[in-house]
Amino acid sequence: MITLVALVAVVARGNVWVYPADFCLRGAFASVMDSLSLDEPAPVAPDVAGDGVWLACIECGDAFAPFEGVRYTCDCGGLLEVRYADLPTFEDFEGRGVWRYAAALPFDVGVTLPEGDTPLHRVPDLEDELGVEALRVKHEGMNPTGAFKDRGMTVGVRVAQELDVGRLACASTGNTSAALSAYGARANMETLVLLPAGKVAAGKVAQASLHGARILEVDGNFDTCLDIVQDLAMAGDAYLLNSLNPFRLEGQKTIGLEILEGFRDDYGTFPDRIVLPVGNAGNTAALYKCFRELVQSGALEPSEVPTLTGVQAEGAAPMVEAVREGNDEVQRWEDVETRATAIRIGNPVNAPKALPGIRETGGTAVAVSDDEITTAQRDLAGEGVGVEPASAASLAGARKLRDDGVIGSDERVALLTTGHLLKDPDAAAAAGGDPEQVPGTTEGVRAHLED
Ligand code: F0G
Repeated sequence: MITLVALVAVVARGNVWVYPADFCLRGAFASVMDSLSLDEPAPVAPDVAGDGVWLACIECGDAFAPFEGVRYTCDCGGLLEVRYADLPTFEDFEGRGVWRYAAALPFDVGVTLPEGDTPLHRVPDLEDELGVEALRVKHEGMNPTGAFKDRGMTVGVRVAQELDVGRLACASTGNTSAALSAYGARANMETLVLLPAGKVAAGKVAQASLHGARILEVDGNFDTCLDIVQDLAMAGDAYLLNSLNPFRLEGQKTIGLEILEGFRDDYGTFPDRIVLPVGNAGNTAALYKCFRELVQSGALEPSEVPTLTGVQAEGAAPMVEAVREGNDEVQRWEDVETRATAIRIGNPVNAPKALPGIRETGGTAVAVSDDEITTAQRDLAGEGVGVEPASAASLAGARKLRDDGVIGSDERVALLTTGHLLKDPDAAAAAGGDPEQVPGTTEGVRAHLED
């Protein structure tokens, strides 16, 4: 019994996703898989729904009113999902950017800078090298603060306004803090960010600082920061805008919608596979939710759902471990290290949503070394696409899976690059060539060039 209580407490903090060899909890796991399976029928609105929107627990199915008070998780400790009575098809989308997809979101418009509508780059040299039917790079670094987080914040900060909360907060490896600071500033709201001291790239701290957030540098890693900010949020000290907040993932669903529409416009079909870096597994969860909803609305055949393929750095790969070992749980890694500081995370809080997504789409997860990440960052830059190290993990992972024959030569693949090169200028400079010192004369420069 003590074990059981302890485990439930751990789940309640959104930490390790642990199901012991206990019959009753195995039953709980089966219900997770049911509610998140690709062939689950469209949900029916419960009484608590407001305007056809509600929150549902992915563990026990309990439903909650969406905006009558702040709630991040279910009373049973399970993660929550935003659910809709009306699910859109592609014909329901109009306009540009994230809010083009308002029919799939809880509001018609949010606090916007604006965000989304990012490029889906062709990368012909890399496509040739990988030897796949098509390779595209969805560059989320082209969002207003330079990362995909803006898609989540335009929705999340709108929800914060609806809930009339006083202060916004997040833990962050950097990009979430930059985005929250900008959207908080735009909404005239106070913003508090907790960062792992010494482990956040310079561009991201500079953004949070200039946008006016209060920055706390914590003596601990990202997971410690998230534990602390969750405690503060649960006590009502601030409104949490990490990806544990289900509304963040609603905005991030639009990455999937843009990739599908972009591929369809170019090739007449959807991509076979999406390869993405994984930290907290929020994007993995959001993309899977996007596809599930499209299947439920009849806009997408289950066979058309892209295979979700996650990539982590070798020094921070708890999701890869869980997928490789066929576990229904992710064990928290206490010690994590990687040059890709954005994904230096040992406890992916969205694993209970993301693992079913990887499995149901026939996907996998793979770990890559820091050197493979840097090589991939250089090679993307060689195609004109400037990304930060965590983003380059997607190319590094795709290469590895292509070499291993997991990705076939007939596949159309989309790589997700999540953050801009300038986010981490030190990593970019270290990966690039060194400037050469020359005299301040034309003759001197010419002599140097002819050397
Ligand atoms: N790539 C970048 C550039 C990121 O900043 C993050 C997460 C990820 C990938 C991982 O995405 O969590 O959805 O699996 N950064 C968070 C932050 C943790 O605080 O900025 P995920």
